[in-house]
Amino acid sequence: MCGIISYIGPRDATEIVVSGLKKLEYRGYDSFGFVVKNNSDFKIAKKVGRVSEATADGLGLPKSNIAVGHTRWATHGGVTEANAHPHVSNNGKIVVVHNGIIENFQDQKKFLELQGFKFYSQTDTEIIPNTIEYHMRKYDFVEACKRSLKHLDGQYALVIIHKDENKIIAIRKEAPLVIGVGEGEFFVASDVPAFLDYTKKVIFLNEMDMAVIDTAITIFNAKKDTYVERNITNIDWDAEQAKKGNFEHFFMKEVSEQASTLEGVANIDNGLIREVADEIRNAEGIFFVACGTASYACMHGVYIFAKIAKMHINFCLAHEFPNFNHFLTPKSLVIALSQSGETADTLIAMRAAKAAGAKVISITNAMGSTAMRESDKTILTRAGPEICVLSTKAYTSQLAILTLLAYELAGKLEEGKEKLKDVVRYIYYLTSENTRKFIQEIAKNLRYTPHMYLIGRGLQYPTALEATLKIKEVSYIHAEGFAGGELKHGVIALIEHGTPCIVFTSTETETEIISNAMELKARGGYIIGVGPNNNPAFDVWIKVRESEEANSICQIIPMQILAYQLAILRGCDPDKPRNLAKSVTVK
Ligand code: G6P
Repeated sequence: MCGIISYIGPRDATEIVVSGLKKLEYRGYDSFGFVVKNNSDFKIAKKVGRVSEATADGLGLPKSNIAVGHTRWATHGGVTEANAHPHVSNNGKIVVVHNGIIENFQDQKKFLELQGFKFYSQTDTEIIPNTIEYHMRKYDFVEACKRSLKHLDGQYALVIIHKDENKIIAIRKEAPLVIGVGEGEFFVASDVPAFLDYTKKVIFLNEMDMAVIDTAITIFNAKKDTYVERNITNIDWDAEQAKKGNFEHFFMKEVSEQASTLEGVANIDNGLIREVADEIRNAEGIFFVACGTASYACMHGVYIFAKIAKMHINFCLAHEFPNFNHFLTPKSLVIALSQSGETADTLIAMRAAKAAGAKVISITNAMGSTAMRESDKTILTRAGPEICVLSTKAYTSQLAILTLLAYELAGKLEEGKEKLKDVVRYIYYLTSENTRKFIQEIAKNLRYTPHMYLIGRGLQYPTALEATLKIKEVSYIHAEGFAGGELKHGVIALIEHGTPCIVFTSTETETEIISNAMELKARGGYIIGVGPNNNPAFDVWIKVRESEEANSICQIIPMQILAYQLAILRGCDPDKPRNLAKSVTVK
């Protein structure tokens, strides 16, 4: 949801922010803009569309030592150049980029209009540079920024520069912003991959931190009303991991990495798994919370904990949690899953748990993320940077971690680890060129279908839902997932001659799910079976060997590949589907 990158230092800031913004495009891609500070002049360029093809020369941006870039995912105001960031104060001296939402912007706009300010966009952001200009009638730039924060309700990550000052001001409240620390140079970005080519040293800002950066950095915390020290952390991600390498798209690169990312989980520190399992054992009332793909990992967790650990865990979509969070007590435990660790709804659910005195554990892929910093314990999925908007490798790592936790709770952690290691070898095959070609042929048959239905039972039910999401969000084919048993309760009315139906099977569920497949076939369904055994009910069979408790990890992989192939055949962008953003940092 909106990406920010800025640089101050001796190198060409313009080049750094133009290339850095391309690495953040997964955060939003409606429109983009840059501001470059050239001596005491600004050069601003804004465009509707994607930043991928933009160049500093093409945009007419000169070299500079201070530059800021922003890629937008529209919230307030349509997708227009006027609404694209940066936004400039009326006197032309203060420039702001923003990720988040200013909830009281209408009141503040009225106040500023009464002071004579004019507005040229429909955004909430435009009140920010003007509020700062208003305060600069009495105070200097830094003090005016501090005072302006008192007028802003909502969530914001901000980068602010002033025409007459050689500094960057970076502020975060409930929206991600990290600082990259180089030799005599600083980067400010929504996410680490934007500057990973230059430094792996980062400062994670806390809530209401305001960093004033020139040749050094000072951090003021607006909540505490005092200057604070923040540690530098070394990130263990590699710049190469955040690049496409030989792949055409991040989607397929990340799908193909799953053997090694899952191997990483299989070798995870036993101590951490045991500590988290103890928290689970000692808690009374446990909730999984998450959104999107991570929510299907949670659903899978409910099944796998019931099956292996013989424990019942509640699951709630993070944005629905307000309906249930009154059940929380200081003995409760909330387990939040989030690839980015920055999804606003998930963070709100975590904060509700904290407010009730409950403990919070996060399972996240992003070191230093808000989820990590706001939880009592964190298990990092360590899947490496996931750039494609669709979550693939982070999802299977989440499944694998939940599986290990369930095994540990059953007193069989080593057995769980062995099972994962065994699956890793098989995943090399599942992500191989052969599998990809085979699935491509299936995709050719499905590319024009308007609808698709996917069914599974038990552990395969969440798999059906996640596979459905993958297909919908990237190929724009309408797909729906159901528990196999639900078919006869209405869904079957949708099946017509030739309707594609994907059926996930396992040795355990075979008898019943094959009956469901037969019911679909009897109504004309075109049946694609995914599982260990072929069956006369299937028109096509995608063989995925029996892996018992790890079936969900294996069976989702051909579905990720199918979604990708459908996107390619239908001319859709697999990395950046329309209307989506990787990290949804607004409610
Ligand atoms: C967005 C993304 C999804 C993702 C969801 C949750 O909707 O497009 O791919 O699953 O957010 O993200 P998180 O970072 O919390 O896992």
